[in-house]
Amino acid sequence: MEKIIINGGRRLTGEVEISGAKNAVVAIIPATILARGVCRIENIPNISDVDAMIKILHRLGAEIKMINKSTLEIDTTHIRSTVVEHDMSKLLRASYYFIGSLLGRFNRATVAMPGGCCLGVRPIDQHIKGFEAIGATVTMEENAMVDVRAERLLGTSVYFDVVSVGATINVMLASVRAKGLTVIENAAKEPHIVDLANFLNSMGADVRGAGTDVIKIRGVEELHGCEYAIIPDQIEAGTYMVAAAATKGDVLIKNVIPKHLESISAKLVECGVNVEEFDDSIRVWTDERPNHCGIKTMPHPGFPTDMQPQFSVLLAVARGNSMVSESVWDNRFRYVAQLHRMGAKITVDGKSSFIEGVEELRAAPVKADDLRAGAAMVIAGLIARGTTEIEEIHHIQRGYDNIIEKFRSLGADIELCTVPDEKNTVLSVG
Ligand code: EPU
Repeated sequence: MEKIIINGGRRLTGEVEISGAKNAVVAIIPATILARGVCRIENIPNISDVDAMIKILHRLGAEIKMINKSTLEIDTTHIRSTVVEHDMSKLLRASYYFIGSLLGRFNRATVAMPGGCCLGVRPIDQHIKGFEAIGATVTMEENAMVDVRAERLLGTSVYFDVVSVGATINVMLASVRAKGLTVIENAAKEPHIVDLANFLNSMGADVRGAGTDVIKIRGVEELHGCEYAIIPDQIEAGTYMVAAAATKGDVLIKNVIPKHLESISAKLVECGVNVEEFDDSIRVWTDERPNHCGIKTMPHPGFPTDMQPQFSVLLAVARGNSMVSESVWDNRFRYVAQLHRMGAKITVDGKSSFIEGVEELRAAPVKADDLRAGAAMVIAGLIARGTTEIEEIHHIQRGYDNIIEKFRSLGADIELCTVPDEKNTVLSVG
């Protein structure tokens, strides 16, 4: 078992480089199935969700070459299998993108229901609605396998009842080679949707309107290999921005698209934190305790739900009382129980939390309940007085490239410990 150990109280200063976006790369890796030829993809983050996607693709029969630590070459020409079993799909939520991509190429996919962070009910009814609209038959088989097949996929209009990142991506993947025009209405607008559209277009697809709520996809006969670089991770960048503010630090966050960070920057400014945007970097600094503010999570361009736990840590030590409303997920406040152990004063009522800012947090043994909850624990540990130990950090490793080294380079006293059993005897530190 691995733990993160943090001696809190150090101000973060310096520069940090943001890696490629998790939620873009986990859509783009399965999208390579649609191409005939080699796709060379750069700016791949070193995270365990990428390892899982590569494992699945490899098992399906793809050839994957690691060119350097952030570049992959993927050739899916010889894929024959259209089945993703439980042992693979349970590794992450994005395994369901293999439904859209296998369906798009082979008119058939059998994929076990996906895993992923536990954030409340995570239905896939909108994905199914989309697949059925373009001519597929969807059957839920025994063992929670989703079987999707079509004689021929035919473009049509698909209206989503809720704004869903996953359903938008899955229907884009399934329809790029369908006959005719597919129009997705009430589509998600997140930066990773635009990145996927750009990737598909680099392979010869005809996708327009990504980034708005109507995406038009004119089916093409064939897609080819391409070279592509993944966009920077909006949420990783936001996490370092909040960490800089929470530690009263001064950090230049490099390799970002400031436009993607506007909702986060705006809230930091509202809290009295200084934010300065450059072309591809953003500086965040303060030497004061933040002011309180209200937050409501929304689909893009609203405040991202994936920043809600991290921002709540900042508000936990802010001057005054704040309210946080979670409008995307039913159950994204599990981390609050961990923050209580550190002295935070937060009350949760349904999908809202009420935060009474305290002067400081104190260190405690805590765990990462999920990916962003884990990032919140790291920020809490960075500001708390004393030594914080975080368990279940495999959640954090799913989505944060080199988090220990990056925070250490900013002056944090943070390390990874490997412990052999429940007694938690420290074997190695580094
Ligand atoms: N929903 C439905 N039916 C569906 C699909 C979704 O009702 O068929 C509902 C969900 O229950 C939820 C809302 O729609 O209430 C939004 O879900 P969405 O489909 O947009 O989420 P997702 O695709 O499963 C992605 C990210 C999440 C992020 C959400 C929202 C990936 C791999 N995951 O999930 O990221 O929170 O969009 O932005 O892209 C994370 O990175 O920590 C993470 C959880």
